Amino acid sequence: MSKNYIDLIDKNNIPAHVAVIMDGNGRWAKKRNMPRLYGHRQAMETVRLIVESCVDLGIKYLTLYAFSTENWRRPKDEVDGLMKLMTEYFIKEIDKLYKKGVKVRILGDIDNLPGSAKSCAVDAMERTKDNNILNMNVAINYGGRADILNSCKQIIQKVNSNELLIEDINEDIISEHLYTKDIPDPDLMIRTGGEKRLSNFLIWQLSYAELWFTDVYWPDFTKETLCNAIYDYQNRDRRYGGLNQ
Ligand code: FPP
Repeated sequence: MSKNYIDLIDKNNIPAHVAVIMDGNGRWAKKRNMPRLYGHRQAMETVRLIVESCVDLGIKYLTLYAFSTENWRRPKDEVDGLMKLMTEYFIKEIDKLYKKGVKVRILGDIDNLPGSAKSCAVDAMERTKDNNILNMNVAINYGGRADILNSCKQIIQKVNSNELLIEDINEDIISEHLYTKDIPDPDLMIRTGGEKRLSNFLIWQLSYAELWFTDVYWPDFTKETLCNAIYDYQNRDRRYGGLNQ
């Protein structure tokens, strides 16, 4: 009999921050002879479910990789479809998210998104800014290298204008200029869909995260799968480069 991870996990040792690469939507749809966007639409159902699960479990931060700086290379139909789905999500879900105490934050360069996607995302952030039950970060037009590059540029500007001394630059200063400013680094990174890479997702912030990979396609991901990842996380030995006593 398979384990029931929902009951098995230690409710007192829940990771504070879970980051997710939601992969496998296209293959999920292909298996059903359906267009890729059908997979992305189903993926949105999983997003709803996982947001609820995170609230239930007491996870404080959930970061979802929705659209990378590299995703613009996909066919126009798919890019347009994804933008539409995200816009729809913010319009349809915002009341529910607000009532559940979810605070939405967008990570990435949203200035170059289509007008409606940008304004809905900005509205969602504004509407939920005082919530504190679950911080839901959605990475849109996000790239880890671009994040670090932007941080460096901002720091250089501060050095040039004498706001900051070179000798005062440290890791915290770099972190404070990333899109994730004030968000603790992820404890657990989940990637669905079978690939085992970071794909330019939070590459600075994931330095000490536990990585968990599953073959499950994102549309099939459930609260049970999430708890399976948390169970494995709880049974790992996090040493941060040190030794255990
Ligand atoms: C990867 O699957 C998935 C994406 C590139 C997009 C995922 C985005 C969403 C589900 C939207 C989330 C929106 C919000 C507001 C949270 P893939 O298409 O690369 O799948 P494949 O590897 O099977 O082709």
